[in-house]
Amino acid sequence: MNLTQRPRRLRTDGVRPLVRETDLSASDLIAPVFVDATTDERVPIETMPGHERVPIDDAVDRVEEVRETGVEAVMLFGVPESKDERGSRAWAEDGVVQEATRQITSETDAYVITDVCLCEYTDHGHCGVLEDAAAEDPRLTVRNDETLDLLGKIAASHAAAGADMVAPSGMIDGMVGAIREALDAQGDTDVPIMSYAAKYESAFYGPFRDAADGAPAFGDRRHYQMDPANAREARREVALDVEQGADVLMVKPALPYLDIVKEVRDSYDHPVAAYNVSGEYAMLHAAAEKGWLDLEAVAYESLLSIKRAGADLILTYFAEDLADEL
Ligand code: PBG
Ligand code: ZN
Repeated sequence: MNLTQRPRRLRTDGVRPLVRETDLSASDLIAPVFVDATTDERVPIETMPGHERVPIDDAVDRVEEVRETGVEAVMLFGVPESKDERGSRAWAEDGVVQEATRQITSETDAYVITDVCLCEYTDHGHCGVLEDAAAEDPRLTVRNDETLDLLGKIAASHAAAGADMVAPSGMIDGMVGAIREALDAQGDTDVPIMSYAAKYESAFYGPFRDAADGAPAFGDRRHYQMDPANAREARREVALDVEQGADVLMVKPALPYLDIVKEVRDSYDHPVAAYNVSGEYAMLHAAAEKGWLDLEAVAYESLLSIKRAGADLILTYFAEDLADEL
């Protein structure tokens, strides 16, 4: 055969690394960490094998374990000792995330990012202040503008405790602007905001909601998180967050939404983050447990794909395992 084009020429062992377009490294990864004020022992998270909720006193050790693998950044989620209608433990100076952040930032060199939302702190499990009678009427939902004040207070309390970056995840209109204002007002002008800019109402969050005890007590989140059918809407959402001062733009979940990751990558110069969520982690584990997939290989391929689609940063429950292999 007289073929001029033979792409296989560049697939031999010697040349493959030279022509590789994408690489993964531990410095791209952020490990989610769950801190639980209701326990003084570590509690394994059943739906997310290998992950645990740790007591506040163990937060530093947990983060050191992460850092030993080469991953330097963590995303903190908190389970508070008590919940109420407005989620007031979310902005308490002695709240679970505030205490953990204070300890981690004073005793380790980890880069600490905090999730800013209300769903783990409200007794109804929604990401904001509820409309009256929302429990009875599925058309009712969270009050947008009243929630903004609370998100500003939460972010400010995290920054005051030493958080390096804050990450609002509630999909409340105006959340980035409200948080930027609250941070700047207390002099935390250098604390960046990583916005969960395009966050979809996804069934892939199931295992996380067990882990963080943040499932809605009634209804769902479709009145604030995005419809999985929409891509153009993601561009609007991201544009709004950029206008309001978002520093890093996140797309969530990752694998089922790589078109959105690519779109954000191509449209903005900002760093793009993708959240490889709990369900994406759990499904690979479940299949591997059955012997149907090679866990290490599919985890690596998944994260490489997210990177290839354009993500600079990846939040993933595979962070430690992957960094260990790299
Ligand atoms: C809370 C929050 C969720 C996740 C991150 N922050 C759950 C949700 O929105 O219901 C999901 C993370 C995961 O599934 O790994 N707002
Ligand atoms: Zn939430």
